[in-house]
Amino acid sequence: MCGIVGYIGTEDAKEILLRGLEKLEYRGYDSAGIAVASDQGVSVFKEKGRIANLRSAVDETKKGTVGIGHTRWATHGAPSQVNAHPHQSTNERFTIVHNGVIENYSQLRKEHLQHVELESDTDTEIIVQLIERFANEGKTTEEAFRMTLSLLKGSYATALLDNQDPDTIYVGKNKSPLLVGIADGVNVVASDAMAMLQVTNEFIELMDEEIVVVTRDNVQVKTLEGENVARDSYTAELDSSDIEKGTYPHYMLKEIDEQPFVIRNIITKYKNENDTIKLDENIRQAVLDSDRVYIIAAGTSYHAGLVGKQLIEKIANKPVETHIASEFLYNMPLLSEKPLFIFISQSGETADSRGVLVEIKKLGHKSLTITNVPGSTLSREADYTLHTYAGPEIAVASTKAYTAQMAVLAILAVDTARAAGIQMDFDPLQELAIVANAMETLADRKEELEQIARDYMSVTRNCFFIGRAMDYHVCLEGALKLKEISYIQAEGFAGGELKHGTIALIEEGTPVIGLATQEHVNLSIRGNIKEVVARGAYPCVISMEGMEEEEDTLVIPHVHEYLTPLVSVLPLQIISYYAALHRGCDVDKPRNLAKSVTVE
Ligand code: F6R
Repeated sequence: MCGIVGYIGTEDAKEILLRGLEKLEYRGYDSAGIAVASDQGVSVFKEKGRIANLRSAVDETKKGTVGIGHTRWATHGAPSQVNAHPHQSTNERFTIVHNGVIENYSQLRKEHLQHVELESDTDTEIIVQLIERFANEGKTTEEAFRMTLSLLKGSYATALLDNQDPDTIYVGKNKSPLLVGIADGVNVVASDAMAMLQVTNEFIELMDEEIVVVTRDNVQVKTLEGENVARDSYTAELDSSDIEKGTYPHYMLKEIDEQPFVIRNIITKYKNENDTIKLDENIRQAVLDSDRVYIIAAGTSYHAGLVGKQLIEKIANKPVETHIASEFLYNMPLLSEKPLFIFISQSGETADSRGVLVEIKKLGHKSLTITNVPGSTLSREADYTLHTYAGPEIAVASTKAYTAQMAVLAILAVDTARAAGIQMDFDPLQELAIVANAMETLADRKEELEQIARDYMSVTRNCFFIGRAMDYHVCLEGALKLKEISYIQAEGFAGGELKHGTIALIEEGTPVIGLATQEHVNLSIRGNIKEVVARGAYPCVISMEGMEEEEDTLVIPHVHEYLTPLVSVLPLQIISYYAALHRGCDVDKPRNLAKSVTVE
């Protein structure tokens, strides 16, 4: 959550910072701000709400070739102008932006800043005030910065300006992601490479508890103790056109439509010349060697993990448990003797998942991250990575990352099974090609799905999704999609569980979306749908070719039973999209949310 940028070069920094923040708005959009430094001092502009508000508040006459910026997802302190970053120290010498949470901020305040009057309710202001305090005691800016960061407990990606030395940006990182981009006579700082592709695609990755002193011509990485660290740069393989909406009104719709291409891309990336699965031998061995797989994830990625459990158990005959990352450490199950941990994360930055990774590493267990962002924290810190190749996902509501994760899990399951000598006639690469075609067919039926959204979602306050077996897991995802972008109270239920309580909520006209794509439970789910209809529900049944009944609302193309979730989720994504659109919601940036959840 929160995104930061920095620029030091030869052009006026304001527009570059604003464009960078627009690319990072997915990380939070409660408020935004920039600070621009020149020989005349530092000018700060900040506003509550979106970057667009900030844009109109910026004074064009204030120019400077150095600056920092921030887009906020509020943690400490309400979303307001006063709590917006950048924050300044009392005498305005230092200006800071920060992404993360300082857990010991009240203690630091008590110990070091009792007589300092704070302007905001944020934990961030503590950092900048501490820096000023140490500088007043005679430390250089770099020393004061390092000393302050050494005292912090928690997470930070931070950038600092000193108005007595406007030609340097000091940056530091612990747990929150941060990159420094390098070019000729220009250097930049960003939470995500996407923000600064406008300047460079050459980046330096920072490790935890490192700082960087950034000037126009130099970038020096150091430890918190001040030791120089040598670090090679890498080229970010991102195409800036991937992060544009093109002719689409919303990223979410674009990303829904991209799913067939993503699946075909995955097939290409995971296929050998002889059409067998291409997978790192070490990953294969790690899965084979394990006696149980623990999948750890959050939100939509957790829902992919639930399907992943089914796939790995059914196909590779290996026991799997799927756990919500934020709960795992507090409800840690008895671990098997040789566990393998699989972290599923679109962003690779989710703090809850990372918290688990840190702990299981201490226990000496092996880990694999399935992510859309190789080079992300979870990818770097796990033993192995499998890339989902979905391309940047910008809409806060995850769509293509989810289907990509399940495709990769299916490939991993089959690869494991084959390596273990299990015979089967399921070829995931061939079957995924059929999935891609089925996705295309559904993406072409938007008008029909938009009409369903109008019929079912225009006025309702709530909506239920029911399904059995893998359909149940897709129902959880369908409900999450609908609630997060349209704010309709939506819940996914196992078809058989509804009558154990929740059926009490069904009233005349309550929309119930029933999924019927699992042959072995078709009769039972049909029975459950009849039960809710008998109580007044307004049913929308989505079935699969071969299992359809006359009254079904939508019939999706037939795909292999292991891969139905990749296809049945598409209509749910599209219905959610139109439901949100027609209810006037901000589809790509739903309220209270952020794309990367980098706080626990
Ligand atoms: C919902 C959504 C979230 C994420 C969750 C985990 O549409 O996107 O539920 O799935 O925050 O994020 P990652 O996958 O980046 O770890």
